[in-house]
Amino acid sequence: VPIMFTRAISVAATLAATVSAGFNAGSNSNVAIYWGQGDAQITLPEVCSDASVDIVNLAFVNEFPTAIGEYPGNNFANACEPDKYTLNGKTTKLSSNCPLIGPGIQKCHENGKKVFLSLGGGLPTNYSLPSQELAEYFADFLWGAFGPLTAEWEEAGKPRPFGDVSVDGFDLDLEAWIEGAPFNEYQYINYDHFVNRLRSNYASSGGEYYISGAPQCTVPDSRMAYAIERSHFDFLFVQFYNTLECNTRRGYEGLGKDTTDFTFDAWVKWLNENSANQNTKIYLGMPASSTAALSDPTAYLTPTEAEKLINAYRTAYPTKFGGVMLWEVMRNIRNPICGKPYSTYIRSILD
Ligand SMILES: *[C@@H]1O[C@H](CO)[C@@H](O)[C@H](O)[C@H]1NC(C)=O
Repeated sequence: VPIMFTRAISVAATLAATVSAGFNAGSNSNVAIYWGQGDAQITLPEVCSDASVDIVNLAFVNEFPTAIGEYPGNNFANACEPDKYTLNGKTTKLSSNCPLIGPGIQKCHENGKKVFLSLGGGLPTNYSLPSQELAEYFADFLWGAFGPLTAEWEEAGKPRPFGDVSVDGFDLDLEAWIEGAPFNEYQYINYDHFVNRLRSNYASSGGEYYISGAPQCTVPDSRMAYAIERSHFDFLFVQFYNTLECNTRRGYEGLGKDTTDFTFDAWVKWLNENSANQNTKIYLGMPASSTAALSDPTAYLTPTEAEKLINAYRTAYPTKFGGVMLWEVMRNIRNPICGKPYSTYIRSILD
């Protein structure tokens, strides 16, 4: 039986004293942050009260259906109880009891923020969408389970893990790594069909919904290029960390020089030549502390360093630049500078 938060939510909505300025997808000063994979995480309503943040990415739906009819699996660390949905008498990997995620999404909406459900991630990395039919089924399932609630879905008794609130879009963080994949394209094909199907669901609902992606800084991204060339992404939260050859540190050290290993320029050029959406916004993805990108601690920039890098690239690409993406909420909170989380400084740099 789906959990329903209807009553609690309508009370919360009534009591909301202020409504913040609305989200602006075309802005070049948004802050996006991932939540869901930290240890001993604060709750989503707390994240959604943070004035420095515009987009919250819920991480992750980390296992994809392998056959039509299956449910995906998720991992949001301590935000969910162990309870799972069952399907045909079997326990699935889809959480049925994540009590504060629904109210958190509601809180984000009251505060003018967008919430995306992030798919993929780095654990496990064995996900794929080997057929167009499976890709389209998965898109429809996610839309039914996490998009606007429909009477049809509810009457069918299908899962609504976050209750009757809707996310504002889906984020693809494709980091699949499959030993002995059956064919070369296996790890990146059909995500274009997946995105196109979500887009047609968006169009039929009439609301404002988005697609984002979180590629690595290497250009082109081996997992995401195919989909970016063939389907419409609104935002790319490029991970300028974990790949030393093109990270934020290379960017900082390259400022004012004739050449740089940092790949923001290369991303702009590649998107101009290849992206299905010529207006995709590129976000500068950065670790929120020196321990946030464990394999690449040098990617962490102090606020002073970050300010120089952000200003340089936002000035160079005022319309392509969308803002900053931070990985992740708990690393951010545990990195206070003069008592304030790192994101506070990123917000004021962008403002
Ligand atoms: C992926 O790996 C997880 C964890 O090892 C496993 O439970 C799951 O069945 C695997 N999924 C696929 C599609 O192989």
